[in-house]
Amino acid sequence: MADVAGTGGETTLKRTLGAFSLVTLGIGAIIGAGLFVRTAAAIAERSGPSVTLAFLVAGLGCAFAGLCYAEFASMIPIAGSAYTYSYATMGELVAWIIGWDLCLEYAVGAATVAIAWSEYFNKVLEYVGMHVPYQWCHSPFEVSEAGVTGIMNVPAVVILFALTLLLIRGMQESAFVNSLIVITKVAIVLMVIAIGWGFMNPANHMPYIPAATTYTTAQGVTHPYGGIMGILGAAGVVFFAFIGFDAVSTAAQEAKNPKRDMPIGILGSLVVCTILYVLFSHVLSGVATVEDFRTAGKEASVTFAITKYMIGYAWLGKFVTFAILAGFSSVILVMLMGQSRVFFSMSHDGLVPKIFSEVHPKYQTPYKANMLFFVFTALFAAFLPESIVGEMTSIGTLFAFILVCAGVWIMRVRRPEIPRGFRVPALPLVAVLGIVVCGAMIYGLGWTNWLRLAVWLGIGLVFYFGYGMKHSRLESHPNEAGR
Ligand code: ALA
Repeated sequence: MADVAGTGGETTLKRTLGAFSLVTLGIGAIIGAGLFVRTAAAIAERSGPSVTLAFLVAGLGCAFAGLCYAEFASMIPIAGSAYTYSYATMGELVAWIIGWDLCLEYAVGAATVAIAWSEYFNKVLEYVGMHVPYQWCHSPFEVSEAGVTGIMNVPAVVILFALTLLLIRGMQESAFVNSLIVITKVAIVLMVIAIGWGFMNPANHMPYIPAATTYTTAQGVTHPYGGIMGILGAAGVVFFAFIGFDAVSTAAQEAKNPKRDMPIGILGSLVVCTILYVLFSHVLSGVATVEDFRTAGKEASVTFAITKYMIGYAWLGKFVTFAILAGFSSVILVMLMGQSRVFFSMSHDGLVPKIFSEVHPKYQTPYKANMLFFVFTALFAAFLPESIVGEMTSIGTLFAFILVCAGVWIMRVRRPEIPRGFRVPALPLVAVLGIVVCGAMIYGLGWTNWLRLAVWLGIGLVFYFGYGMKHSRLESHPNEAGR
C-alpha cells in the first residue's frame, strides 16, 4: 500500500486508552454548541418538538459512519484524520476533496461555536449590567426586533483570536482539565433535564410532529417545517451536535484493544450523547414555546428558557451560562487544532503551500497556519449568521462521512489483504446505511446548503488543479506513491 505522503511525520502512539477513556474522550469532544444553541434553531425553523426524533436520526447516521471511520483509522499505523487515511488508501484527488471538506467541519465549525460563544458571553455581561450593542455582536444578515442591523460579531472574533494565541503558544491539553470539562458539561445537561422536567408545559408538545408547512428565516430562506422533511432537515441541523465523535475513531492507534474497545468507544459515546440529547431537547421544547425560539429566545436559548420559565432557578441559569462559555472555548480550541493539523499534513504532501507547515522556532507549533486560519474563521464568524455557518459545517461533515463510508467499502474490495486492527461488522450493509442516512440528512438540509457545498467543492477543485496537483509530493517524488 502507499507508504504515504500524508503521514505528517507522525509515529505510532502508545496504547493507553481503554473503553471507558474512549467513551469519555468522545463525550468531551461532542457536547457543545450543537446542543446548547442549534437545538433551539432546529425547533424554531424545522421540526418543533420532534427535534428529539431528529437527534435519533443524526445519532444513527453517526454510528454507521463512525464504525467505518474506525476501520479506516485502524488500517493506517499513524495518527491522523480522514484526510490522512484517504490519502494512503484512495489517492490524492479523493484525499484533497476530503481535506478541503474537513475545513468546513473544523474551520467553519470553529466559527459557528465562536458565534454561539458570543451569545452566551453577552448573557454573562448582562449579569453585571453591561452588554455589547446588537450591531457589534451580529452579522450584517441579522436584524434585531427593534430594527437594528448587525455590522460584525466582535466577541466571536476576539475569542477566536485569544484561542489562536493559546494554540500558537502550544497548549498541552491536560487530561485533568478535559475530565473537568466533561463532568461539567454532563452535569449541566443532567440538571436541566432533571429540574426542567417539572416545568414542562404539555401544550408545548402538541402536536409533537407539527403538520408539514414551511418557515422562512430572517435571511429569507424558506425551509420545510414539520412532517418528515422537517425532521430530516432538523437532523441535518442538529448533526452538528455530534461532530467531534470522530475524535474517538482517530484514537484507534492509542486504544489498548482496538478490536473490542473502538466500537464500544464510538457507539458508547454516541449512545450516551443521543440519550442525553433526546431528553434535553424534549425538556427544552416542553419548557419554552416554538415562538420563543423564533423571537426572544433565539439566542442563548437554554439560559432564556430557564430564566423565563423556571422560576426560582436563576442560579441554574447563571451556572449554565458560565459552564457553557467554558465548554465552548474547549470545543473551539479542538476544532482550530484539528484544522491546522489537516492543513499541516496537506502542506507536507505539497497540496497546499509550505506556509501551512512552517513551525515556530520556539513553540514548535504551525503558527503561520494558525494565524491564517484565524483570519479565515474570523471572517466567517464576524460576517455570517450562525445558521448559515452551522449548516455549512453539518453538510460538509456529512459529505466527508459519506466518502469515508464509501472508501472503507471500496478498500475492502480492492485491498482485502491490508491488516485492519478493527473491522466494521456486516460491511457493505453498514457502509450503505451510513451513506443512506447521511445522504438523507444532506437532502433534508435543502438546496441552499447543497449549493453552498457545491460552490465550496468547486473552489477546492480549482485550487487542486491550479496548485495542489502541480506541487504535490506524488508529482515531484512519484516513487513514493503506491509502494
Ligand atoms: N459537537 C460540537 C458542538 O456541538 C461540535 O459544539
